[in-house]
Amino acid sequence: MEQAKTVVEMRNITKRFPGIVANDSVNFKLRKGEIHALLGENGAGKSTLMNVLFGLYQPEEGEIFVNGQQVVIDGPNKAIKLGIGMVHQHFKLVHPFTVTENIILGSEPRKWMGLAVDKKQAYEKVNQLSKQYGLNVDPYAKIDEISVGMQQRVEILKTLYRGADILIFDEPTAVLTPQEIGELLVIMRNLVGQGKSIVLITHKLKEIMAIADSVTIVRRGKVIDSLPVAGTNPNQLAEKMVGREVSLKLDKKVAVLGEPILEVDNLVVKGRQGLNALNGTSFVLRRGEILGIAGVEGNGQSELIEALTGLRPVSSGSIKVAGADVVGEKPRAISEAGISLIPEDRHKHGLVLDFPVRDNMVLETYYQPQFNKRGFLDYEAIGKHAERLVKDFDVRTPSIMTDARALSGGNQQKAIIAREVDKNPEVLIAAQPTRGLDVGAIEFIHKRLVEQRNMGKAVLLVSYELDEIMQLSDRIAVIYEGRIVGEVKPSETNDQELGLMMTDYKQKQGGAGNEQAD
Ligand SMILES: Nc1ncnc2c1ncn2[C@@H]1O[C@H](COP(=O)(O)OP(=O)(O)O)[C@@H](O)[C@H]1O
Ligand SMILES: [Mg+2]
Repeated sequence: MEQAKTVVEMRNITKRFPGIVANDSVNFKLRKGEIHALLGENGAGKSTLMNVLFGLYQPEEGEIFVNGQQVVIDGPNKAIKLGIGMVHQHFKLVHPFTVTENIILGSEPRKWMGLAVDKKQAYEKVNQLSKQYGLNVDPYAKIDEISVGMQQRVEILKTLYRGADILIFDEPTAVLTPQEIGELLVIMRNLVGQGKSIVLITHKLKEIMAIADSVTIVRRGKVIDSLPVAGTNPNQLAEKMVGREVSLKLDKKVAVLGEPILEVDNLVVKGRQGLNALNGTSFVLRRGEILGIAGVEGNGQSELIEALTGLRPVSSGSIKVAGADVVGEKPRAISEAGISLIPEDRHKHGLVLDFPVRDNMVLETYYQPQFNKRGFLDYEAIGKHAERLVKDFDVRTPSIMTDARALSGGNQQKAIIAREVDKNPEVLIAAQPTRGLDVGAIEFIHKRLVEQRNMGKAVLLVSYELDEIMQLSDRIAVIYEGRIVGEVKPSETNDQELGLMMTDYKQKQGGAGNEQAD
């Protein structure tokens, strides 16, 4: 096969930040017409390398060649001149403006000898580009009125409008629904089909297998390998990314269901704006199962968790733990009734960052007799307790006296899980338990959750990650606008069906019979 020409070559790029070498003598080559994935865990140095290519950072060492010519990219304007465009993780759009106004911002076409902006020409060009690459963007729509997926396409159009031939996407699927991800992959294929070249930054193996032609793996700032995707597999990639063997498949034996332990009936709860966030939510969770709550963020998940843990008042309906209604009880009483929570936001609700790991291990139990002697905290007992949890849950910390703040995200999360599981709850609520964590930590946490379920505990998994829901759950309940609109088994559904249920429940009957939505 004929080798396509190299459009970008980065040689021995080193970029340092105080205390860290983000890119350590990195070599990277992008060929014309390919989708090249840049794979690595959080903090591996992926964004830094591409920010260097886009001129946002200046490397301390190394050379860059674009189309065979050595270049110095001293800012994004230079990158754009060289035909490089970047779609960032966080969009930079002006909301009250239209799509086209955003796209031309900073490079307005002029008429009347440069005295006025030629909007008509701009709208036409945006429309033409949108058609050419199958982006399906309305050039006249206001940014306020379009979905996140559409906003991302506006960012893509912006790079194309400025003449980009080399497009960098930084974790583009993180903010998208399953349908939108499918559409984005088609768009990327369209782009390379018409001669563009793409760098796709991601830590999702599934995406790489689905779309990329080649992959470069980085770990702790260094390139580990660069190879064609056709000759590799997810396990091999995971191993290179993490630096040790990882099992991607969970060993899950068949669930042994016990009696119902959490019964939520017709729950109505007000949200932040005073409107109903839960509109009659009902479901049952049994011992020995993992029930996954799937849904697009903002459909009542946070309010459900808050209501279940006593942090948000319930307007009507009931929550029964082992048969006893806990509605109206204080959080401590609910915790004692057997509900434990691995919270959504581990910094705000999971840990006190300025406390040592030791104290964080007894945040909710310090008043109990085993940690308390005649009204004084028994630090010896608390210390022993913390040492044991740190060891059992492989929390990597220099000592139990280290502040929680100093731990990595994965180790902070392990510490929370250790504490919550050790309370020996009836029901363990895991809210986004692996958000932002790397493959190694995800593997560990998933195993612990399955272990709890195998021990006969009930696990309620609330996650926006469909892969996680599909992998862990024994049963999936889909939440949409505060109602459970359907229940399915992972083995009997797929991403597409779940995606439909998550966005427009009318496509799927079943659920709690709430057909006359408002
Ligand atoms: N502007 C910055 N200042 C200081 N440190 C940074 C900066 N940007 C990134 N880093 C550090 O560099 C390392 C690589 O980060 P990054 O390139 O963002 O990783 P990735 O995109 O692979 O998750 C991390 O340790 C990160 O904390
Ligand atoms: Mg990044």
